[in-house]
Amino acid sequence: MKSTYSFILLFSIVATVFIFGFLPHFTQEELPYDDDQEGLSKQIVFKFSHVVAENTPKGLAAAKFAKLVSDKSNGNIKIEIFPNGSLYSDIEEINALKEGHVHFIAPSTSKLGMLSPKWGVLDLPFAFPSDAAITEGLNGPIGTELLHSLQRDDIKGLAHWRNGFKQLTTNKGPLITPQDIEGQTFRIMQSGVLQQQFDRLNSHAIQESFNSTYKLLESGKVDGEENTISNIYSKKFYNLQEYLTISNHGYLGYAVMMSEKVWEQQTEETKRILIESMEETTSWNTHHSIKMNNEQLDLIKEKSPIKIYELTEQEKEQWKKVLDPVYDTLTPQIGKELVDEIKKLRKRYE
Ligand code: LMR
Repeated sequence: MKSTYSFILLFSIVATVFIFGFLPHFTQEELPYDDDQEGLSKQIVFKFSHVVAENTPKGLAAAKFAKLVSDKSNGNIKIEIFPNGSLYSDIEEINALKEGHVHFIAPSTSKLGMLSPKWGVLDLPFAFPSDAAITEGLNGPIGTELLHSLQRDDIKGLAHWRNGFKQLTTNKGPLITPQDIEGQTFRIMQSGVLQQQFDRLNSHAIQESFNSTYKLLESGKVDGEENTISNIYSKKFYNLQEYLTISNHGYLGYAVMMSEKVWEQQTEETKRILIESMEETTSWNTHHSIKMNNEQLDLIKEKSPIKIYELTEQEKEQWKKVLDPVYDTLTPQIGKELVDEIKKLRKRYE
């Protein structure tokens, strides 16, 4: 008898915990997939996972997008943001999107070689001589073709968000000529196109996730890394590095995406709200990312003794001379049309 009472008591506790603790979360997760559940709760919840800090061009764009979506839907559509790789690291999040565990991601385009080699075009060295060139590249045929290429993987490409130009940091500096980086070990993003560039520089590149970069620098496993000012600032890489070279040698930006299946399950009204909010966020991000990288460079100068060197145009020419041959070696992989387009764009802005 006593054991029957104990069993009933245990069962009641487990049932209560399940109903009040887990059921609301379960309901929210399922909502984007099933219109029939609208009666249960009016709110649709989407998860947006990314790997950078909140105070960055991508982090703030995600927050702005969430706010616009909430305002335009009177709170009926909620975007839950998971920053700093708290849900998934950068390569994991692409698989998580495909498997439906997360609804929005915005990985850096350098990591999308696993989907299509075409994305490598944005990683070509010194491809964009200015911010205006980036705008033209992303809004023109190059940007359109790249977002379109995601369809093959059942992914809906929603927008290009940008961060900015990559710079070089190291403890073995200063880095002024391409010879200065020879023999150094660098953390780079997961990209064969970037790997080839470091190979040409006779340096050793390690392709690792963004969230492991701080530890790699701290432990001395790498001498340096390449990144935008906003990532160097928000993750405090500048505290671990002695030299920063403003080289603007490469672009770092993001493709915002959703799974095609989840997109197709949305009502026309939800799609309209998502598209409008994405468009507003994207044009805000264009201006804001440039401003943010400039402001955070000033903050690094204020806060740290890191030695900053800005390459002159003549010095950049020396780096281009070493790196430019990758345009030809990578053409068969990326595709001639895209490489020709980016070469023309670069010429127009040089
Ligand atoms: C990196 O891995 O360095 C960047 O792609 C991180 C990011 O998403 O900006």
